[in-house]
Amino acid sequence: MRSAIIRVMTGCMVAGVAPAAAQERTTQAGVYTTAQATRGQDTFAAICQGCHTPASHATAAFTNAWRDKPLVALFRFLSEAMPKSEPGSLTPDEYAQVLAYLLKLNGMPAGDQELPADTAVLQSIRFEPKK
Ligand code: HEC
Repeated sequence: MRSAIIRVMTGCMVAGVAPAAAQERTTQAGVYTTAQATRGQDTFAAICQGCHTPASHATAAFTNAWRDKPLVALFRFLSEAMPKSEPGSLTPDEYAQVLAYLLKLNGMPAGDQELPADTAVLQSIRFEPKK
């Protein structure tokens, strides 16, 4: 009895860390929280909105530009190029918040874990627009 339980637990742990499963994660899996996107919306309104409307990031051109790319590509673009007037001036957490807001604008679902400002994790999440 006891060894059966141990076997089951070991099986779960192995499945949990399988790299194949991690690579399959997409932006449809709930990769940010609603609270994080709300903070991102405030940051966007304060810093980005002078040059962009939120709607400008929820177009077919936007989703086609990032489709199937790892989320780290968009994170890097924002961190290195935006705001255009002062690139790199936000903290990594603020860029992650704004990124969460952009995902929300594109109809991607929220989940129960925040999107981390961690390039290794962002590398493992694929940008998948809603169908
Ligand atoms: C001073 C004006 C300005 C500010 C402020 C600014 N941007 Fe931009 N942004 C631009 C311009 C101009 C482009 C066109 C591409 C380029 O020139 O690099 C652009 C391009 C983009 C793009 C890619 C094209 C698109 O529409 O999807 C994204 C995403 C973006 N900006 C997000 C942001 C975010 C997020 C912020 C706030 C942190 C921000 N921008 C602040 C001027 C600005």
